[in-house]
Amino acid sequence: MRLRARSVRLLNGQVRPPSDKSISHRALIFGALATGKTEVTELLEAADVLNTAQAVRQLGAGVDQIAPGRWVVTGAGGFRQPAETIDCGNSGTAVRLLMGAVAGYKLSARFDGDQSLRKRPMNRVVAPLSQMGARFDGVENRLPLIVHGGQLKGITYRSPVSSAQVKSAVLLAGLRAEGDTIVIEPERSRDHTERMLGVFGANIDSAEIDGGLHPRVRASALTAANVYVPADPSSAAFPVAAALITGKSEVRVQDVLINPLRLGLYETLLEMGAKLRFEERRDPIGEPIADIVVSGGDLVGVTPPPKRAPSMIDEFPILAAIGAFADGETRITGAAELRVKESDRISLMVEGLRACGVDVEELPDGLVVRGRGRKSVRGGAQIRTMGDHRIAMSFLVMGLASKEPIVVDDADMIGTSFPGFTAFMRGLGADIEQV
Ligand code: S3P
Repeated sequence: MRLRARSVRLLNGQVRPPSDKSISHRALIFGALATGKTEVTELLEAADVLNTAQAVRQLGAGVDQIAPGRWVVTGAGGFRQPAETIDCGNSGTAVRLLMGAVAGYKLSARFDGDQSLRKRPMNRVVAPLSQMGARFDGVENRLPLIVHGGQLKGITYRSPVSSAQVKSAVLLAGLRAEGDTIVIEPERSRDHTERMLGVFGANIDSAEIDGGLHPRVRASALTAANVYVPADPSSAAFPVAAALITGKSEVRVQDVLINPLRLGLYETLLEMGAKLRFEERRDPIGEPIADIVVSGGDLVGVTPPPKRAPSMIDEFPILAAIGAFADGETRITGAAELRVKESDRISLMVEGLRACGVDVEELPDGLVVRGRGRKSVRGGAQIRTMGDHRIAMSFLVMGLASKEPIVVDDADMIGTSFPGFTAFMRGLGADIEQV
């Protein structure tokens, strides 16, 4: 399905974006590993998460939807041999966390995914899980891969990349390992696994090594817990961006997860001069939540520090799009990981921005966008998304403030993270339709 976005005068209203994808995956996996009934409220019912639901069913858990957004996971206190291949579709989080979670059980599980996931590197989890004692069958550590689980030993793993998926895979394996399992990252990635393991009663704390604190787990049994899933700050980024670049917009984005390790985009937007306010801060679930109130206005280009990259890793495509409407240069570096996401997001953003008349330069680990201010972007292009949901949404948002409409060649994959995106944005006054 192709979608076209056209410029609008302004956006207005209050909205609650879809729930957080990272927390949704974890709620299902942890609930499945635990003993007892875990009730999840406001689970993200998007393709990626539904694949995780199906995966944990195959591994022995009961997973039932009792009302829209309300799910009960009946955990058997561990995983059993799956009868068939576990298909993780488009989701790197699903496959990497699950490979870690199964590694400590005496079973062999075959994992696979779609064309995009089959191209993504799995060595980053295969290497540490092998050190712990798991075995893998596959070609060059790409999917499809078979994990042979068994007796594991704890390790202190110095990860070469800052990746919550890698960290979580190792920590989940650590729940079944002998001794301590510690993960050290170059920069801290999102810590939902650590927080939620605490809620499920795992033996988890922090170890002080080289002057820093790093998560440490010991063998633990998990106990069912209830999880509330707030709105996803990575999805909230799209209405926020749309409000910033379109006229005198004023939008309240409700119930957003504001975990500091997820807020890099919002910090950067404030540095660009964005009018953003966090209101009604609360912390009912071990994760902080707030409403984000945003209004349109002039922005200036900035250079976010490379160490901020892990806290805004999924938001670089939309930041690059916003940068086109700012005055001056927005220089993104330290983001080489973007090349191994659902697509090579650096090259696709560069290609699409250029097609829309934006002055952009590709770097090995990022890109430079030379913005010429509001109302400067020509648009008028059809964008190649390579089936990447965040590329599609970023260019549709751009189209809301470009002189000529922007068409994305394939919008179907938006459903992996943001079901109902078009209707949601239209509710704020966006002009997005199928062509
Ligand atoms: C995620 C971690 C990030 C992020 C992904 C979700 C998670 O991936 O891009 O969308 O839930 O742990 P990496 O761990 O590869 O950085």
